[in-house]
Amino acid sequence: MDNIRTIQRIVRGRPTRDGAGVRLNRLIGTPALPRIDPFLMLDEFRSDSASDYIAGFPNHPHRGFETVTYMLAGRMRHGDNQGNSGLLTAGSVQWMTAGRGIVHSEMPEQEDGLMWGFQLWVNLPARDKMTAPRYQDIAPEKIPVLHPAEGVAVKLIAGSIGDRQGPVQAVATEPLFLDIRLAPNTRWSTRVPPGHQGFAYAVEGGFELGAPATVFKQGDLGVLGEGEQILLKAGTDSPAHLLLVAGKPLNEPVAHYGPFVMNTEAELQQAIRDYQEGRF
Ligand code: CO
Repeated sequence: MDNIRTIQRIVRGRPTRDGAGVRLNRLIGTPALPRIDPFLMLDEFRSDSASDYIAGFPNHPHRGFETVTYMLAGRMRHGDNQGNSGLLTAGSVQWMTAGRGIVHSEMPEQEDGLMWGFQLWVNLPARDKMTAPRYQDIAPEKIPVLHPAEGVAVKLIAGSIGDRQGPVQAVATEPLFLDIRLAPNTRWSTRVPPGHQGFAYAVEGGFELGAPATVFKQGDLGVLGEGEQILLKAGTDSPAHLLLVAGKPLNEPVAHYGPFVMNTEAELQQAIRDYQEGRF
């Protein structure tokens, strides 16, 4: 097979707190890995101790990019200053295009039990940074689960596999977002569009990716090298659960301050003024 992607490097997350004190593992958006164009940040939250998550993310703004929340366990209530509201349940995805600006809250709707999920920040091209905000709230049953080979189960959240399309639509960076489970000793290969940049993340268990292969342990995030085909192989004795995410790089300047991601310093200053003066 031609054009097999290898892994450029592996990073581990770094523990941090954000929002009103939610304990997180930050995987992208750290000194070790500031971003993978078009991805600006990736956080994993995973705890069955309420004190790690109960404070949630009270009202805060976003402008100039998209936030993707993928829940594996637990319930999160979402509400914004334009009257939109929704409950994110286990297995659901919210792809929110903040565009010119929203102020929202993301709060746990449970007082105990496991809360587990991811938030990914996806940049918007300059031409779309001031677009109207948009939500794609995808319920678990709207996400196709494909079985492309024996021992392989793939939730197709965004992008395509063969002629199947994920439910997330019309995103500028044409993302591929897959949640993949492999039975022990299973191999599978899939395609990531050439030119797309992205990563694989070992959610549970280990696996090998590429040829020559890079070995992932649970918690490893690997930056994809160039190419097209992704070769995966689960370990001999244990199943593997991973995320495979890629998107079209924007190759534009990034001016980033907290929850605002624009192209220039002047646009950032404008974003801060607009937020302070209540124009979101
Ligand atoms: Co937010």
